[in-house]
Formats: sequence, structure tokens, C-alpha cells
Amino acid sequence: MSGKKIPRVKLPADVRIDTLAVREGLPPSQWGENSEALFLTSSFRQPDAATAAARFANEEEAFIYSRFTNPTVAMFERRLAALEGAQACIATSSGMSAILLLGMGLLKAGDHVICSQSVFGSTIALFGREFAKFGVETTFVSQSDVEAWSRAVKPNTRLLFAESPTNPLTEVCDIRALSIVAKQAGAWLAVDNCFCSPALQRPMEFGADFIIHSGTKYLDGQGRVIAGALCASEVLVNEKFVPVLRSAGMALSPFNAWVVLKGLETLSIRMRAQSDRAFELAAWLERQPQVERVFYPGLKSHPQHALAMAQQSGCGGAVVSFIVKSARGAAAAQARANAFHVIDQTQICSITANLGDTKTTITHPASTSHGRLTEEQRQAAGITQGMIRVAVGLDDVRDIQADLLRGLSTLTA
Ligand SMILES: Cc1ncc(COP(=O)(O)O)c(C=O)c1O
Repeated sequence: MSGKKIPRVKLPADVRIDTLAVREGLPPSQWGENSEALFLTSSFRQPDAATAAARFANEEEAFIYSRFTNPTVAMFERRLAALEGAQACIATSSGMSAILLLGMGLLKAGDHVICSQSVFGSTIALFGREFAKFGVETTFVSQSDVEAWSRAVKPNTRLLFAESPTNPLTEVCDIRALSIVAKQAGAWLAVDNCFCSPALQRPMEFGADFIIHSGTKYLDGQGRVIAGALCASEVLVNEKFVPVLRSAGMALSPFNAWVVLKGLETLSIRMRAQSDRAFELAAWLERQPQVERVFYPGLKSHPQHALAMAQQSGCGGAVVSFIVKSARGAAAAQARANAFHVIDQTQICSITANLGDTKTTITHPASTSHGRLTEEQRQAAGITQGMIRVAVGLDDVRDIQADLLRGLSTLTA
């Protein structure tokens, strides 16, 4: 975009990240509001026809129509980009539509994608089923096996897609190593940073080209709205993604943008507090005789503990998954019944597949978030019927332990 630009909020150039989290955005309106304004308007009045023409032709940056330009949405985009260390960001109506925008902006029929087989269930469906309809082929590989990513490269590989840590197994990928594979292949690397958020992990520092967010999770942090975002370089945002957003319309509503924008102000302290509680819960779960295995990157028993600590600011994140013990040789149906028993005995944890809330949530991934996968895809992703995922909020962790113990201590098989 050339010509007149929308101004930034006035801040010293060397201001630190916690300050950006509460202040980055646009200057206040003429009324001088201290809390950012919610511009709940679908379109913007233009001063005259010639200016409108210049703005529609991208000769002057201005707000035109909220499908692709809105001040509240722009404040959220600028703030998230600043936190991620990205040049630019484009907000979307959901995390899934951020991935849709990524694919529509970058890929065409005949292109090839390599995707971790452990990513969120709908992401697998989007790449494996929906993009396939338009002639884009996806190879799914083991998240942590860098060699497998290299072996999967084809001459037409355009994009590598990973999520770290994954949902629900908390598998970590070596972002730097994958970025090298991508560069050697002449492809891009996208990382879904939903589980860590920029408070713990900034994938571009390790060479990622794109960052995906489900703003629905930690960015909002209080389970209120559905939102998404895609961070990238300014050139790619303007050339590849804004035109798709303008034509395809997966825009974030100003109201949802305002909610998530205000969520970013407390992101860092929430993430650290929830991560501390999750560590305490995971360590406690490892000591419970009814628990077969705990998945949490902050534990020394996690196979990629060292990598996770290096990549995630020394924190494990706030999601803990575990497998409830079943009798030796028990059928999958019994493992599922045991997991359901533990979930159903809770009185505090919210039984919901969402995560990233201040309220601790509990779910059975095999029948909820990953319920639409085939059994083969579920097994490849390592999601068993006895597995439970707890997304730790700001509840007192002793209450959550007591909540889980109610079911664990009354298992019969
Ligand atoms: C890792 C991850 N990415 C993307 C999404 C999709 O986000 P949304 O529900 O905002 O579309 C989810 C949702 O649970 C997720 O867990």
C-alpha cells in the first residue's frame, strides 16, 4: 500500500513486550478514551467520492468496510503481531479460518503440503479432505521425526505445517529444524502457536514463516468468543492474504476482536500462572497409581522435555493429558468407560472441549476434538480411548486434584 498510512499509537521505539501487550494498537480517537474503542460499524463514511476511489484502489490506507478493515480489528492485529515479533497479522473469524486463509493464500492445485499427523483434528480434516478437493495433496508425518519431514519433501512441496505442543498429546516439534527442512525444500513453515501463545513461544524466532492462532483459546483466555489470526511478513499479508480475506470474507467481527484485544493485556501473567498450576497437577498425576501415563512437556519424563524448555521460555504450558489405567488386556470400550467415569465424577472442572479458559476444562479427546477422525488417523495420532485432557485454568490446583481423585479413586476395572 502506498500513500497515506494509518498512524500507530505513540510509544518509544525500545518499549518492551509487556508494555506492547497493553498499549500497541492505534492512537485513541478524538475523545481520548483510555480503554480501546469498539468500532461496531460495518462501513466507514468517506469524505468525498475521489477519496473513496483512492482508498478502494489501495492508494491510501483507510477504513472502508469491516470485512477487511476495521480499527478495533487493526488494534488486535497490531498488538498480536508485536507480541509474536511478526511484521504483520491478519485477524480471522476462527482459528480454523486462519488455516483456511493460509491455504487459500499460498496453495493451488498440484501443490503438496507436509503436515504433522498430531495436529488438531479439524486441521487434519481441512488439509486431508477439504484442500484435497481442490487438488492439494497432503502427506501426514510424525510430528517429532525431522527425518520423516525431510523424506516427505517432493518437488512441488510448498508448505510445512506443525503445531507445538500438540493437542492433546503435547508432542513438541523442533521448529528450528523444521524451518531448515522447509528452506532446503523451497517451502514455507507454518506453526500453530495456540497452546503456548507468544507469552511462552515465538515461532518466528526459530525460523517459522507463519504463525496460526485460535484466538478462542489463550488470547481471549476467558472462553468468551471464537477468533483466529495469521501472522506473517508485511509483504505476504498484503500480497497473499488481504486479497483472499477481501474476496472470501473470513473476517473477525469487531466485537470479538475487542474481547481478544483486551485478553492480550493479561496474556503473559495468565499463561505463567496457568502453566505453574499445570506443572503441579501433572507432577501429582504421575504419582497416582490409577494413572498409566502423563503427557506434559514440563515433566522430565516427557520425551522432548529439554527441547520444550528451550523453545517455550522454560514453561510446559497449561494442558496436561493422561491415560487412565485399565486392567491388563482390557478392551478399548473399558478404557473409554474408565475415562468417562473420571470425567463424570468431576464437580469443578468444566466438561467441554475448549481450552485456554481461566476455568479448568476436561475432555475425552477420542470422542470430542478428535471424534471425526477415522480410527486409523486416531491411532496414528496416538489418541487412545483411555486418554483425558485437562486444560488447567486459574482454579486452585488442590481443588482440581480433589476433583480428579473422586473418579480415579473409585475406578473398578
Ligand atoms: C491447536 C488448535 N488449532 C486450531 C484450533 C481451531 O480454532 P477455532 O476453534 O478457533 O477455530 C484449535 C481448536 O481447538 C486448536 O486446539
